[in-house]
Amino acid sequence: MQHLIRDAEARLFAAGIGSARVDAELVLAHVLAVPRTALLTATAISTADADRFAELVERRANREPLQHIVGTAPFRHLELAVGPGVFIPRPETELLVDAALDVLEAGATVVDLCAGSGAIGLAVLDERPGTRVIAVEHGPAALPWLRRNAADTALEVVEGDVRDPNLLYALYGEADVVLSNPPYVPEGVTVDPEVRADPPDAVFAGGDGLALLPAVVARAAELLHVGGFLALEHDDSHADLAPLILATDGRWRDVAGHRDLTGRPRYTTAVRAEADLTDR
Ligand SMILES: C[S@@+](CC[C@H](N)C(=O)[O-])C[C@H]1O[C@@H](n2cnc3c(N)ncnc32)[C@H](O)[C@@H]1O
Repeated sequence: MQHLIRDAEARLFAAGIGSARVDAELVLAHVLAVPRTALLTATAISTADADRFAELVERRANREPLQHIVGTAPFRHLELAVGPGVFIPRPETELLVDAALDVLEAGATVVDLCAGSGAIGLAVLDERPGTRVIAVEHGPAALPWLRRNAADTALEVVEGDVRDPNLLYALYGEADVVLSNPPYVPEGVTVDPEVRADPPDAVFAGGDGLALLPAVVARAAELLHVGGFLALEHDDSHADLAPLILATDGRWRDVAGHRDLTGRPRYTTAVRAEADLTDR
């Protein structure tokens, strides 16, 4: 068993995968349907499982995302179903959930704009049961994954476009928290091969990466009541621009940029202020 893992690690390392050992172990654990820790004591493997493992390692060596191979992606305490058509949730986005949990009061209403697999909204629900969480997504290929992850939860899925000025009209001024991880990578930026497995319109947002940001800010300003809280993930190249866009919008106070665990600027928070420029 250990030699299989070592061979797979070498194959994945040669393919340029930094997390070769972990990926080899996670693929094998998936094949054997055991937790990764069980591999420490496992000794025997059937020929069928060894063949299946070799096949999946080859797929991973061809830079298919690990999450597509095993069919799930971890996000905080959840394992979300993912596959072609939906954005794979990233660890840095877990910080948006922390930001929300810091301000959430019992019975609050939260809107997750650009929800993808539902990672953000579902994590909020999981960690603050009783919250009302509405997840908005427009991608026809992403929606079935979102609905699948939302099944048997209280997550409210809304098919909608964040650029639609009438989106969630009935909720205007009622939401307590808006969270969003919209597409934000500038087109033309070189991304890892695995990122090419994400739907392009989940990743890229025009030449400057800002194509969706004004719409997200506008929808959040309409949805939140005065004092409501926004946390917005963005590209690290938008460290100054994202706070500037919020600060100059006129509807926000306490605008603050935040870094992720690697020290890169990752998200901006703001509080809905009294002033409203929407009629100008
Ligand atoms: C970066 S992904 C984030 C997904 C999820 N929130 C997460 O953090 O894992 C951006 C998501 O926004 C969706 N999206 C892109 N443009 C949109 C739009 N105009 N309206 C609503 N959703 C949109 C994409 O389909 C994709 O699911």
